Amino acid sequence: MTTGADLLALSPVLPVVVLDEAEQAVPLARALLRGGLRVIELTLRTPAALAAIERVAAEVPDIVVGAGTVTTPEQAEQATKAGAAFLVTPGCTDRLLDAVAETGLPFLPGVSTVSEALRAAERGLSALKFFPAEASGGVAYLRAMGGPLPGLRFCPTGGVTPGNAPEYLALPNVGCVGGTWLTPKEALAAGDFARIGALAAKAAGLRQAAG
Ligand code: 3PG
Repeated sequence: MTTGADLLALSPVLPVVVLDEAEQAVPLARALLRGGLRVIELTLRTPAALAAIERVAAEVPDIVVGAGTVTTPEQAEQATKAGAAFLVTPGCTDRLLDAVAETGLPFLPGVSTVSEALRAAERGLSALKFFPAEASGGVAYLRAMGGPLPGLRFCPTGGVTPGNAPEYLALPNVGCVGGTWLTPKEALAAGDFARIGALAAKAAGLRQAAG
């Protein structure tokens, strides 16, 4: 995988994960794989995140592990050192985009407006995260962006659920959707990886559901 476009093509759903215990990262990644998903985004929102990325990168070679919620140049560097295969940012300041590009990793910059999408496109980026998707106008907004910006493809994230994911996935400018629903807090707290595997299996079938 070398580009953001490759990343969008990996799975219909990019699981966005907030993990408190680095020990859970490997069983979690294996559960997602068992369900048929080949990618995991571990968000840098908890102290455990970098260690979690390191473990998955070292122990679960069949899944593509990336770092999400990258908001500073320092985090981009730390995530790269930890072994992340891609980076995701919630927004796109010039400073952050410069730093993320410097890592050489494929990445999805977060955008929520046409101007931000154009700013990313000016840098040659054509695979973007649309965040926060539902709060920014949802399916209707993304469909409307497809008119003037047909060359861009998105991973809408933020408020995406199994209920509305098929509608997003049916849009021609959506490659995959992102969401936290595959890893509910209570399932993680209970170590219920069977439940997470089952949620992943349903998510893996969503592209067909979108027709
Ligand atoms: C993200 O960081 O991508 C979002 O917090 C995920 O949003 P969700 O919890 O609504 O899926």
